[in-house]
Amino acid sequence: MIACYPRAASRALSISDLRALARRRLPKSVFDFIDGGAEDELTLRGNRDAFEQVRIVPRILVDVDQPDLATSIVGQPADAPFVIAPMGACALAWPGADLAIARAARDCGIPYTLSTMATVSIERMASDVGGRLWFQLYVLRDMDFCRKLIDRAAAAGYEALVVTVDLPAGGKREKDLRNGISVPIRPSLRHVLAGIAHPDWALRLLSGGMPDFENVHGLLNDNSAGMTIAAKVGQNLNASFQWDDLRRMRDQWKGRLIVKGVEHPDDARQLCDLGADAIWVSNHGGRQLDGALPTLQALPGIARAIDGRVPLLLDSGVRRGVDALKARMLGAQAVCIGRAALFGAAAGGEAGARQALDILTGELRLAMKLSGTPNMAAAAHGLAPPAASAS
Ligand code: FNR
Repeated sequence: MIACYPRAASRALSISDLRALARRRLPKSVFDFIDGGAEDELTLRGNRDAFEQVRIVPRILVDVDQPDLATSIVGQPADAPFVIAPMGACALAWPGADLAIARAARDCGIPYTLSTMATVSIERMASDVGGRLWFQLYVLRDMDFCRKLIDRAAAAGYEALVVTVDLPAGGKREKDLRNGISVPIRPSLRHVLAGIAHPDWALRLLSGGMPDFENVHGLLNDNSAGMTIAAKVGQNLNASFQWDDLRRMRDQWKGRLIVKGVEHPDDARQLCDLGADAIWVSNHGGRQLDGALPTLQALPGIARAIDGRVPLLLDSGVRRGVDALKARMLGAQAVCIGRAALFGAAAGGEAGARQALDILTGELRLAMKLSGTPNMAAAAHGLAPPAASAS
């Protein structure tokens, strides 16, 4: 029984198949935590709608025998225009999910972003997996603690620091509040019943050890046991963090600085002036401000505003390979993958995460062939522009 999930994951044809497998395998509370969005989930749905509304005008008679997916991502070569987005509490879905996804990313030649709320430490990720590693920082009230995290990432050789700026407070995810999802999982009757209903998940969780937030272990108050994950993060967030504070962080971190959670062109411009090396257009996958602009709609305005001064990354709603092509045509260097990778890991550990990336790269390769896009440079130049801007 336990071994059948990775096999099933390897037969998945789409991210939607992996999501369905994850849904079957996980207790409702864990699936909802991954899948859900804030409040009425308007932004969650809007992100997908925005991708679905962009159409490509294919070009013909181009040599697309061997489409080349390789590209530069924030100044370093990558085999495909994808990055793994940071995700906290991944081990609820599969023990060691952070490591599993990172190994899949390394083997596919793309960067992996470790969350502040990861269930694996900064150092262990670097020593056990390696590859192109970025560290994502939530700005916490305890700025000394943040500075120590930044120093640890530097000492462990992380290439980039990703500062998430769209989370001065935890979003209101009502499914999580109703389900009472927490880390560590509370030994309540509800969760015991969930374990009985999902024995494969429960056995793996028990054998892997109860997941914990290894990087912020000393920070979270003991009295936060049993709080929802969002509430636990929320009570430690620094809502007073401003431009001057980010400037000081820029001075501390000598590697590449990427700012995640940007939607306004003026903010993007100001970040270029501050010395950011890349801008990550994101609304946190619709998990924070419900009503925030779908990222694909925000992208063209930001691309115009910064006029190529720094690379743009984009996430929120990527579920198909063709989405990477659309984002690239509208100004992004690469797209970042959140839930799609985690659905894969939830469905089948490392093999499932690998399957998610194989599906996305396979779909992108096909979309490039069918649209007459031989390489990423051609996509960036709008060889096949979206219908809205075609004359
Ligand atoms: C996230 N996201 C997130 N972002 C971040 O900066 N730090 C974090 O710790 C987390 N944690 C997290 C957990 C889970 C379960 C999810 C699904 C997402 C947001 C993430 O980095 C990314 O912005 C979105 O997931 C992108 O949207 P898609 O690809 O999931 O639609």
